[in-house]
Amino acid sequence: MPRLYLDNAATSFPKPPGVYEAMLRYGKEVGGTAGRGMYFEAREGGRLIRQCRDRINTLINGEDPDHIIFTLNTTDALNLAIKGIVRHRLLTAPGKPIHIVATEMEHNSVLRPLNALAEETRGQVSWTCVEADPQTGRFTAEAVLAAITPDTALVAILHASNVTGAIQPAAEIGAACRARNIPVLLDAAQSVGHIPFDAQQLQADLIALPGHKGLLGPLGTGALYIRPGIEKFLRPQREGGTGSSSESEHQPQTLPDKYEPGSQNAIGIVGLSEAVKWLNTRGPETMANHEHELCQAMLEGLEEIGALNGRGGLKLLGPHTATNRINVFSMTHESLSAQEIAAIMEQKYGILGRAGLACAPRAHKLLGTTSGAYRLSTGPFNTLEDIHYACRSLGELCESMTAR
Ligand SMILES: Cc1ncc(COP(=O)(O)O)c(C=O)c1O
Repeated sequence: MPRLYLDNAATSFPKPPGVYEAMLRYGKEVGGTAGRGMYFEAREGGRLIRQCRDRINTLINGEDPDHIIFTLNTTDALNLAIKGIVRHRLLTAPGKPIHIVATEMEHNSVLRPLNALAEETRGQVSWTCVEADPQTGRFTAEAVLAAITPDTALVAILHASNVTGAIQPAAEIGAACRARNIPVLLDAAQSVGHIPFDAQQLQADLIALPGHKGLLGPLGTGALYIRPGIEKFLRPQREGGTGSSSESEHQPQTLPDKYEPGSQNAIGIVGLSEAVKWLNTRGPETMANHEHELCQAMLEGLEEIGALNGRGGLKLLGPHTATNRINVFSMTHESLSAQEIAAIMEQKYGILGRAGLACAPRAHKLLGTTSGAYRLSTGPFNTLEDIHYACRSLGELCESMTAR
């Protein structure tokens, strides 16, 4: 039985042509570590890393490629952003309360750093959790803005939900916070690469980017985009060798070196670069049109088997229309657990989906699904046939349950 990967919200698979070839070439023929030697191989490493920054900057319409900071994944980028802002404040305004606004749709990669900071500082750092709509998982700009206090140092919001697929009003929040001079951190784990993405139009100050999800690079890659000027308010999380200004025992203040001590994951970054080149060549409209087509097909298929109105036992969470939505489809069944659905779908149909809370406990609490959901999510190489097969399989599964 062929295996059909539908867990692209976790990590994208497969990757575009050329990604693994570029990584293999680097590993077998280049090998040097960027900035650590004058010989060709080290310079080539530096050139390729620089090329990746340029390509990501083009894709997201950033203001400066040197402000794309490579990280291990989205989580690492979110930690750098949240802790960097807080630690700067702790140093520059000792004893003063530090408040952060986030929402109940956030991933644990935001919730856990926020809670850790609140604990570490014994409450000097606090955060307000903004409520979202229990049907769609969408929050409003008004609710986010209403949570801002005179102590608010950061607004941290996700762009698209990894549970309901809802696209959030990020540009509206970005513009309103810019007017109030409050930095916005956008968790773009599920949006960039899937929907047209423009950092300047979104007016986000810090953007956590998932190298290995919608950017289609290998696991172990991610980035933080820092809007020029914001670095003045962002402490690095690590200090160390950069291959630059080596006479100084202090971390350089210029980007990207300020935030990138230590040897780079050059093999991963080279793969990511090839993937982003592929995305840039295809263009955001082509990518978005394909996603939209798959989304329509999935919603039609789910409607046919009753998942939009609870007929047949299966229930789709989140928005039921293809507007303002990404291709993340979470569902529950009246008599099967998410884990049971996942096991049947894999064993009987070869379909790979995710079961559980998707690291978003508050979102599931809001939706009334604290024991989790079964999630399917598409990538650019999925076809309409894949979607039809997935819906047919889910339909058969539901029928087999009602026939019991
Ligand atoms: C909304 C959201 N934020 C953050 C993350 C963490 O991403 P990573 O696995 O790249 O650290 C995920 C991963 O699923 C996510 O969906």
